Amino acid sequence: MTLVAIETSCDETSAAVVRDGCILSNVISSQTAIHAEYGGVVPELATREHLRNLMPVARQALREAHVTVAELDAVAATRGPGLPNALLAGLKAAEALAFSLRKPMLGVHHHEAHLYSPWILTDPPRADFTQFEASVSLIVSGGHTLLVLVEEMFRHRVLGSTLDDAAGECFDKTGKLMGLAYPAGPEIDRLAAAGNPKAYSFPRPMLNEANDDFSFAGLKTSVRYFLEKNPALPDDPQTLRDLCASAQAAIVDVLVAKTVRAARRLGRRCVTASGGVACNSALRRQLAAACQEAGLRCRLSDRKFSTDNAAMIGILAERKWMAGLGEIAVDAEIEPSWAL
Ligand code: KG4
Ligand code: ZN
Repeated sequence: MTLVAIETSCDETSAAVVRDGCILSNVISSQTAIHAEYGGVVPELATREHLRNLMPVARQALREAHVTVAELDAVAATRGPGLPNALLAGLKAAEALAFSLRKPMLGVHHHEAHLYSPWILTDPPRADFTQFEASVSLIVSGGHTLLVLVEEMFRHRVLGSTLDDAAGECFDKTGKLMGLAYPAGPEIDRLAAAGNPKAYSFPRPMLNEANDDFSFAGLKTSVRYFLEKNPALPDDPQTLRDLCASAQAAIVDVLVAKTVRAARRLGRRCVTASGGVACNSALRRQLAAACQEAGLRCRLSDRKFSTDNAAMIGILAERKWMAGLGEIAVDAEIEPSWAL
């Protein structure tokens, strides 16, 4: 089976070609530079950029895969959640292509695609579900922070989520307070590598509460108050690194502790992590170490498939289609605010 997948839920325009579990191409056009000027994603600009970039990106994905539209057996696209008009741009283009080819249109839930992305290998890029097992899975990105119990393939339920800001949002907003450009997550990661995570003590929200929820708005506010009292601190390069390392440690400590605790409580032997924040070096290191200590297997999405990409959409669409799930009617409504 050969399909083209499209992802336009936020600020990456992406198209991928997937054939029988193998990723033949995965083209991502990032709009980061455009939104950086405004300190965050501007929905209207994102939509315009998707409309501008979608066709060139899709053509490149087909060219790199050496696949023509005549060879496609299906078309897949993210149907939500995400920015409504950004989603519409990709979804309607995909529907039009599927309609013109008289092929099935497969609508994919964005969080579900992140959820299964740790089972994508990189060399060569392909899905490997042979090792698939029940898990407690952390999905962390700019728009969502979810802890999910995966009972078996396509049977999962959300254990907890953030009550306010997502983990990535917290990275981006605290970074902005320190004068870093959007998105600040990768820059905090880089600067924190040479910083002292114990230099400043920021709160670990909800760490000890007996639930699987998160809350990061208070941490951001605490960094804000601290910097209002000490405005010159980020001007010193080493102090900035220490601030980054300390804020990062607060976020990562909570994510790791609550994920491992849930896995132990529920008797799961495997923990996975995915989404843009799963690129974070401290999170990867600390989660792997905590899992090892607890006797759990740890499976992290590869960095390439952690941030938004169409390959994860295509892999899940194909897998669900093969399992007899997945087609949506060409006139189906998108539901931008869907929960997992
Ligand atoms: O999954 P993603 O590409 O988009 C959403 O679905 O939101 O995640 C983007 C988020 C941003 O908040 C970005 O700052 C964060 O992931 N991020 C990181 C790192 N790389 C990306 N956060 C911390 N450390 C990183 N290395
Ligand atoms: Zn995402």
